[in-house]
Amino acid sequence: MPVKLGVNIDHIATLRNARGEGHPDLLKAAHIAIKNGANSLTIHVREDQRHVKFNDAVLLKKKIKSPINLEMAPTKQMTNFAVKLKPKYVCIVPEKRREVTTEGGLNLKNKNLKTIIKKLKASRILVSLFINPEKNTIIMANSLGVDAVELHTGNFARAIKKKNKKLINLEFNKIKNCKFLCDKTSMKFNLGHGLDYVSAKYLMKIKRINEFNIGHFIIGESIFDGFGNVVKKFKKILK
Ligand code: PXP
Repeated sequence: MPVKLGVNIDHIATLRNARGEGHPDLLKAAHIAIKNGANSLTIHVREDQRHVKFNDAVLLKKKIKSPINLEMAPTKQMTNFAVKLKPKYVCIVPEKRREVTTEGGLNLKNKNLKTIIKKLKASRILVSLFINPEKNTIIMANSLGVDAVELHTGNFARAIKKKNKKLINLEFNKIKNCKFLCDKTSMKFNLGHGLDYVSAKYLMKIKRINEFNIGHFIIGESIFDGFGNVVKKFKKILK
């Protein structure tokens, strides 16, 4: 089965918000992503709504037939919002007000997680946890009864950019070992963060990954190659 591609459109909203008006239009971008092969759209509604806003999420959910993957912090406010929105998936991510991007995986010892997961699942939303590529986080995620994990690939992607072979092997093996462990559970195995053509292609050495979620590189590379083309190129890599 081909590996799925979730296109993260947060940075289209970042660009739009820079002018405080409507361009570039998020819905138009969503349609182009889907037309060119995206299997789902990933949106992170942050507490400060610095990119995708609550009303964007509502509009996308209403107008787009493909699955929406809502990334959200483990808070009561976001859980209530997700339950109302009813996206197909929710990926719970850690969130710090001042961070530029999601810096690492979720702390699974957070006592609120159990209640949040229960509430989301009761609303028939599939739940994923954004975690660091460590074996014990896979075991803990599984004990929380979630449907999927998404491993933070930031360190691996950075190692690839630095062309540091030792670090590439180290980070790749961490991800591969987590996949091995995940295969013993019923959880789906997703990857995301910092990925580009080279790092995504390298990770395809791991068999039967469920989904990649890619944002920043797609939007940045679109300046040179066009949004639709970049999405298409990723789809080819993920075949
Ligand atoms: N997956 C998750 C859970 C994320 O938080 C992010 C960043 O918003 C991504 C994937 C996409 O990362 P990037 O924009 O670096 O491709």
